[in-house]
Amino acid sequence: MQVTDNRNWDTLWINARLATMAGGYGIVENAALAIKDGRIAWLGAMDAVPGEARETRDAKQAWITPGLIDCHTHMVYAGNRAEEFAMRLAGKSYADIARDGGGILSTVRATRAAGEDDLYAASEKRLPPFLQEGVTTVEIKSGYGLDRENEMKMLRVARKLGEHYPVSVRTTFLGAHTAPPEYKGNEDAYIDAVCNDMIPAIAKEKLADAVDGFCETIAFSPAQMTKVFEAAKKHGLAVKLHAEQLSDQGGAALAARYNALSADHLEFACEEGIAAMAKAGTVAVLLPGAFYMLRETRKPPVDLLRKHGVAIAIASDCNPGTSPVGSLLLMLNMGCILFGLTPEEALAAVTRNAARALGIEGSVGTLEVGKTADMALWDIASPVELSYRLGYNPCIGTVKQGIYHARHHA
Ligand code: NIG
Ligand code: FE
Repeated sequence: MQVTDNRNWDTLWINARLATMAGGYGIVENAALAIKDGRIAWLGAMDAVPGEARETRDAKQAWITPGLIDCHTHMVYAGNRAEEFAMRLAGKSYADIARDGGGILSTVRATRAAGEDDLYAASEKRLPPFLQEGVTTVEIKSGYGLDRENEMKMLRVARKLGEHYPVSVRTTFLGAHTAPPEYKGNEDAYIDAVCNDMIPAIAKEKLADAVDGFCETIAFSPAQMTKVFEAAKKHGLAVKLHAEQLSDQGGAALAARYNALSADHLEFACEEGIAAMAKAGTVAVLLPGAFYMLRETRKPPVDLLRKHGVAIAIASDCNPGTSPVGSLLLMLNMGCILFGLTPEEALAAVTRNAARALGIEGSVGTLEVGKTADMALWDIASPVELSYRLGYNPCIGTVKQGIYHARHHA
């Protein structure tokens, strides 16, 4: 985008070190970055600044990256599953707990029982740790309501979080997470309700930006997910899929067939599915928190993803069962240590590629002229440090749509 009026910027950041993430790290040292109307109007070398701003801010050699994007979370829910954590430590598997009516269904009971305000209050507490770590966009899924009213309640709470905090919330309808108890043994009828009742109502109220599902032996088959994707398509909604987390169901290929924005988890993905994702431009969202919590030993096939040129994102999967995670930076470290990503791939995975996984790469995910001025400022010596440390938070503050928010130190 060409910016013509260069004497009228709102803010000029000076003495910055940029990792624009527009291809590799996209490093610009001794840099300045200008913002106008919430967008990046210019960036480049300090000695080449072509204009003036009403306000100048000194970054004092801090690094500035695109604001981080957590592209897969289930952070709206009530209750918690600490007891199941203890059961898993004692040897019971995630799938066994789910079959016994625990797992996702135990969170469904708590979430259904919570009023909208209580659900908001419970969910609101989970957001600040992410924002304090430089996150400026978060995706939030429904999937613990499993009926029209409760799924819509979850999505409204998610939207409300985005209205009250300096973060963009992208919402995803995950009605096809598992069948609720009232449909036990009658899963196809539940899928019909998802397709013919929930998706139309949610699309009408514009409560979701995308539709997701859990394609797994303990959840829904590819045939059932096909119906859900058809309904999403009919209502103009993008699709995503929890695929190949616990077994290979052909979910990656199915997602690709529907030009899904992303296929997520992928520990058990095969080369055929990955080749299909590459062709469709479907992003691989890797979730090291769930891998770690379930003590999974099968790693997602990172080499195959690289070989086929599939874009890799990583996310927290923040949820009460498989990933009770409150840190996206920790996921960078785990992506490197557990999955063998490079620090550069890990940072691209929560910026440029996470934006693609949400279909918003035109406006966020890199520092480029014309994009929204969503940025994170870091007290680090190089961007590698964002993956290197565990349990440290070097974030100084964020810029959300041009406005600076200093980090609150505890
Ligand atoms: O992404 N895999 C399915 N859904 C979530 C887990 C949800 C839960 O256990 O509550 C996941 O891991
Ligand atoms: Fe998930």
